[in-house]
Amino acid sequence: VDPKYYNIQSCLAQTPPELFDLFCQIRDLSETLHVEPYLVGGFVRDLLLKRPNKDLDLVIEGDGIEFARKLHQVLGGKLDVHPNFGTATLDLNGFHLDVATARVEYYEYPAALPQVKPGRLKQDLYRRDFTINTLVISLSKEKFGWLIDFFGGNEDLKKGIIRGLHSFTFIDDPTRILRGIKFAVRFGFTIEEETDLLIRQAVEHGVIKELKGPRFWEELKSLLMEGKELKTLQYLDDYGILREIAPDFKLTDQQWKNLKRIDWVIQLFKDQCIVQRWLLVLMVIFANLSKETIERIANDWNLSLKDRAQLNFIHEEVYRVKEKLSEGKLRPSQIYNLLESLGSEELMYLVLISDSQLILDQVLEFYNRLRRIDVEVSGKDIINLGFSPGPLFKEVISKVKEAKLNGKVKSREEELEFIKEYLKERKGGQSEF
Ligand code: CTP
Repeated sequence: VDPKYYNIQSCLAQTPPELFDLFCQIRDLSETLHVEPYLVGGFVRDLLLKRPNKDLDLVIEGDGIEFARKLHQVLGGKLDVHPNFGTATLDLNGFHLDVATARVEYYEYPAALPQVKPGRLKQDLYRRDFTINTLVISLSKEKFGWLIDFFGGNEDLKKGIIRGLHSFTFIDDPTRILRGIKFAVRFGFTIEEETDLLIRQAVEHGVIKELKGPRFWEELKSLLMEGKELKTLQYLDDYGILREIAPDFKLTDQQWKNLKRIDWVIQLFKDQCIVQRWLLVLMVIFANLSKETIERIANDWNLSLKDRAQLNFIHEEVYRVKEKLSEGKLRPSQIYNLLESLGSEELMYLVLISDSQLILDQVLEFYNRLRRIDVEVSGKDIINLGFSPGPLFKEVISKVKEAKLNGKVKSREEELEFIKEYLKERKGGQSEF
């Protein structure tokens, strides 16, 4: 089938001037080097959707690396070359440009890394995930600003459809299942019927279970970072993906309820911190899995220590704190000590799972007031009272802090008074410090 062509020069002309300049530089250089330059992928998709995107993918029919080197000479920026892959990246004021040589990739076996062979543009596009990501804009002198559509991506983009390119797409690369969901939730698009079926078949085939290494986790994170967790988790649940990650991974009614209250809880804390919403979602959905299961998943996905910590989030600690807080009648310093080591998302999670006004009040009291309280005296003041630095200083300062949290001292003067009294009493009880 011949590709369809659409003139979208006016669309290009509406891009910010520095971007349009870059397109012109690419056009001029390609003429000098006798190569064909094409913008491809997510950037083209987003341009047509009028969504800003600073990651540009450029495919060169010709030598991509040489092209990137010459462009670097003209424009400066930071260049990285990957000769084995025939690619280079160029960071230019605010834009990130990936330059590739038109090529064909094939997979030796499912879930393997692709092998690279030289090839042409259409084949290069055919190895991609969805039709909406196969659109191309020519930047050559003769065809500058023409959209080339080999696989019907333009129509799919207009109709709001996520359509895979071929029947092995999810077997070749199961992380594409998550990417499909990501685009569907991000743009509010529908996953086309045949593609939907291919996803179900791939999942049933066990591709999720076979995945080793961190790519699935990276895609999962990126999917949750879209911030549309309800829709996302409905997809994951419906496709049976959670079950494939772990057989007992099933969201309970309570977990769905908690997910629906995330907006509410973030609202309570907003203005005071940048919330990593996706972390909160992660805490909710992994809450019912056992430590062993989480450990097994973390090993399968070969997670870094940081990622492990995010997945292995300290549910036990939060439940222990919840118990203590629900007893009520705690002094402010006790509330402070219980909550001090929890991060913002953990505090929010605590509120989310508690469904209790008493706990909410205490957490907000900590978050809005107690955590900001600091003592005004320092070790110097204790030295001035005639003591030499030692373990005693820490003890004294923490006692002052406790008194301040509990409202027993309010100013620097009162803190000094408190210290004097405390040291006097302590001295009374002990022969020496
Ligand atoms: N791609 C693919 N299969 C993957 C990952 C990427 O086929 N598992 C292809 C897609 O066609 C995509 C291109 O590689 O357009 C570039 O990938 P990436 O930069 O991750 O994708 P974007 O589409 O730009 O996604 P995002 O907007 O989330 O960055």
